[in-house]
Amino acid sequence: MNKKFRLFFLCIFLCLLGVSCKDADSIEQKVEKLIASLTLEEKISLLHGNTYFTTAAIPRLGIPALHLSDGPCGVREENSPDSWNSANWTNDSTAYFPALTSLAATWNTELATDFGKAYGEEAVIRGKDIMLAPGMNIHRTPLNGRNWEYLSEDPFLTSRMAVNFIKAAQSEEIAVCAKHFALNNQELDRGTINVEVSERALREIYLPSFEASVKEAEVLSVMGSYNKFRGKYACQNPYLLNKILKDEWRFRGLVMSDWGATHNTMEAAMNGLDIEMLPVAGTKNAYFMGQPLLDSVKSGKIDEKIIDEKIRRILYVMVKLNMIGKSEPDTTGMAALLGIPARAKTALRIAEESVILLKNEHSLPFNITKIKTLAVIGDNATRRHARGGGSTIIKAKYEITPLEGLRQKLGKSVKINFSQGYAVSKNLKAKDQELINEAIKNAASADAVIIFGGLNHEPGLDCEGADRPDMTLSYGQDELIKAVIRANPNTVVVMIAGNPVDMSKWIDDCKGLLYTSYLGMETGTALANILFGDVNPSGKLPYSLPVKLGDSPAHALGEYPGANGNVRYNDDIYVGYRYYDTKNIKPLFPFGFGLSYTTFSYQNLKVETSREGELFNCKVTFSITNTGNAAGKEIAQVYVSDPESTLPRPLKELKGFSKVSLKAGESKKVELILNSRAFQFYDPEKKQWVLEPGKFEILVGSASDNILIKFQIIL
Ligand code: BGC
Repeated sequence: MNKKFRLFFLCIFLCLLGVSCKDADSIEQKVEKLIASLTLEEKISLLHGNTYFTTAAIPRLGIPALHLSDGPCGVREENSPDSWNSANWTNDSTAYFPALTSLAATWNTELATDFGKAYGEEAVIRGKDIMLAPGMNIHRTPLNGRNWEYLSEDPFLTSRMAVNFIKAAQSEEIAVCAKHFALNNQELDRGTINVEVSERALREIYLPSFEASVKEAEVLSVMGSYNKFRGKYACQNPYLLNKILKDEWRFRGLVMSDWGATHNTMEAAMNGLDIEMLPVAGTKNAYFMGQPLLDSVKSGKIDEKIIDEKIRRILYVMVKLNMIGKSEPDTTGMAALLGIPARAKTALRIAEESVILLKNEHSLPFNITKIKTLAVIGDNATRRHARGGGSTIIKAKYEITPLEGLRQKLGKSVKINFSQGYAVSKNLKAKDQELINEAIKNAASADAVIIFGGLNHEPGLDCEGADRPDMTLSYGQDELIKAVIRANPNTVVVMIAGNPVDMSKWIDDCKGLLYTSYLGMETGTALANILFGDVNPSGKLPYSLPVKLGDSPAHALGEYPGANGNVRYNDDIYVGYRYYDTKNIKPLFPFGFGLSYTTFSYQNLKVETSREGELFNCKVTFSITNTGNAAGKEIAQVYVSDPESTLPRPLKELKGFSKVSLKAGESKKVELILNSRAFQFYDPEKKQWVLEPGKFEILVGSASDNILIKFQIIL
């Protein structure tokens, strides 16, 4: 139904309720009128799930059910109403977009907009009102089984991508859901673990992306997480939900629980939860925000005003989406509109721009005319990832594997011999020597070799519900890679993983290395385009890749996975590169690093600051030149350093970036604006962000460890 039509129905309903159409522009009035018309029982029925992914409707008032769906890679396959099983529809195959880690690796905010738009369009076709994405928890430990669903280790990069994604998706008249609020940085013990973190790290590292989603993108819903924070479950946490989210940030949308993350009627009701999704007990009648809530209001334990406030938020979202008075979406017959080429192209562009070239000793791109036989090795060459990983499961319209992508590109001109190389099994340490032997034989007789290894969405790897046991590659891949490189040095490794893996055993011997998260429906096309030089790689790492797990701050300074039900984030604000930089620990590959088939130089840094009352602007300009022979894209990063702060600060922090497309030999001017937040820190004593006057350095470079030009300013 188009927007005009929806508005027409809305007017009719509001007229029936006594609100005249000339008032139709006041959301508040519409909402208040509806609240006044609802019975207490009806109100309570709106405060919890009705099925696994819908809420109840009140047809007499034109209040429809909310249709919810996962997840970050596109619209999840239709779920059966009363279990986690598939509904077994035949018309729910959708676009399968790259993982959000891939989006972050593009560092291209325009692509975040394109992603959000395409994502929203698919959701509308599937009849969804609230999409349960983006996930924006900060990558704290490389072991988190869900990092691949989140964006990055850096709050600024995460915020910039999330804001554009949310704005674009919500412009399609759906709501999205910023999740998981907050501090769900590990899957291990996620349902019980209590996170203790300093106020400063909370504000500077773990909350900014949520804050930006609310304040800048006006996200319409937020999902509370499973874990506890300072002793209280996140979905019942008055500090997180009432104080920060609703009071401080003025969030107007609704807060839903993660599925089964509500634990107590009184606490959920009073501390800021608006909708309970999936009762812990699993049965329909066991909602804490169902009958027990009704009883509590009737007995006077909870004031009905508390309930009205929740309804107000739910109706606010519905009015914003023009849902009131709208009939149930009928999506039958719309399957053909899902995953159409235009949106597959968006998925491809994100995929291509996200692949990171980490090492290249003259091995890439491959020259098609010089290769007669290509050995393709590794389970990830043929594995489809769409249907794995937990709630992000997608029934993809199609998914082109790396091997298929190479076959499509190379046709008959190159003979491709495939060897599986390693077998995926429940035992992550299991190695199959037969498969390794066969791969060695294949590699030895080929002109070039590509190994597709890394992780996958099997439980225990990049998958919801558990963390990886360590950073070691599973299924004997280290032995395989070493043996194959020995058999044929013209080997390129493509690591498909949404998290860092330990590559120390073979990295020095490997001449070419591409690193990529899950790339969606056009995986194979994107990788083949990069491997054979049709596309110049331009992704950069959205997280630091440590040499070994013990180097990572959560493990070196902090606690992981915690003890006796508590995990203390002693790593504090020193997450990711903030730690490696400040403590001078060299990662294997730093945050923001990625090579290209061309080279770039940076010049002419200028910084101008201006202040008008409270308004503060810092204009940073510089030029980038493509100094190589191929067209390419460079991601310039702007870090701010505060060498004279009263509170200790990381050596530098990312506060701006720009992705610039340059032909060979071309130069372009880049201009970025830094606002006052770029220079502030959170002062826990004053309970506010402060800008301490003094010396600051503006550092511009191609990676967190490669600053090429700098400028000092006094503020
Ligand atoms: C996940 C959420 C997801 C929900 C619904 C939960 O287990 O943590 O991210 O949206 O399930 O599938």
